[in-house]
Amino acid sequence: MSERIVIVGGTSGIGLATAERQLLEGREVVVTGRDPVRLDAALERLGKGATGASVDARDEEAMRAFFGGLERIDHAVIAVTGATAAGPFSSIPAAALREAAEGKLIAQTIAAQAAMEVLRSDGSLTFVTAGSAGAAIPGTAGLAAVNAAVEAMVPVLAVELAPARVNAVSPGIIDTPWWDWLDPSARQQTFDAYAKAAPVGRVGRAQYLADAIAYLVDATFTSGVVLAVDGGSRLVPSAL
Ligand SMILES: NC(=O)c1ccc[n+]([C@@H]2O[C@H](COP(=O)([O-])OP(=O)(O)OC[C@H]3O[C@@H](n4cnc5c(N)ncnc54)[C@H](OP(=O)(O)O)[C@@H]3O)[C@@H](O)[C@H]2O)c1
Repeated sequence: MSERIVIVGGTSGIGLATAERQLLEGREVVVTGRDPVRLDAALERLGKGATGASVDARDEEAMRAFFGGLERIDHAVIAVTGATAAGPFSSIPAAALREAAEGKLIAQTIAAQAAMEVLRSDGSLTFVTAGSAGAAIPGTAGLAAVNAAVEAMVPVLAVELAPARVNAVSPGIIDTPWWDWLDPSARQQTFDAYAKAAPVGRVGRAQYLADAIAYLVDATFTSGVVLAVDGGSRLVPSAL
């Protein structure tokens, strides 16, 4: 029987690339996202071996019902994302910070709790955080705080949930639809600046994260790590 992996936030970007990669690994893949149209498009692209559900990771009851319906899973990847709460620290509205925390820290926590109910005892859980957690970029205190909070849980959960393995990948700038909130020229400007500063000289592709996640899913002696997949940008503060 093939292993089953669930990708919460698997209908776009990093999650979708991870789904494609995991199908190649021979696993049964289940993806989720909120938008049913996006879900249908993702399932059409993924083809045989993939199924999915439209469910909001912020909804505790819905997540428990979704995972409960699967009965048993071997691995879970949690890639959902929230609002950015970007802007100078002095003027971040509390409501924006709450929304950012709700969309990432709370949503990823709810998804992980629901996944644990059906996760194989020595299966794996992989969170997707963000390089902004440690990048010290003015104007990103909200984003940094929310992602750092998820990263802080990783070692704790690696011990608390053992023998399940718990890890995270921490992306730098990756060219995905996440950036659609910027107009095309602002987006290109951001990408160009990052590519210029990052040691590897380019922005990332979702595939790079899918590769790193594939490693963590299969690395049975690795738990409690946050793996940077950022082209070295964390070494160059101006890169992000
Ligand atoms: N792209 C980057 O440069 C970058 C950099 C650092 C960190 N990251 C992190 O990487 C992760 C994946 O980002 P991405 O770039 O792949 O973004 P993306 O292309 O926008 O994909 C996000 C996925 O999450 C789903 N999602 C979002 N909120 C959800 C919710 N509440 N419930 C269920 N599904 C939800 C989306 O589907 P629906 O919208 O239909 O729900 C979609 O499938 C995020 O955690 C993001 O913060 C990305």
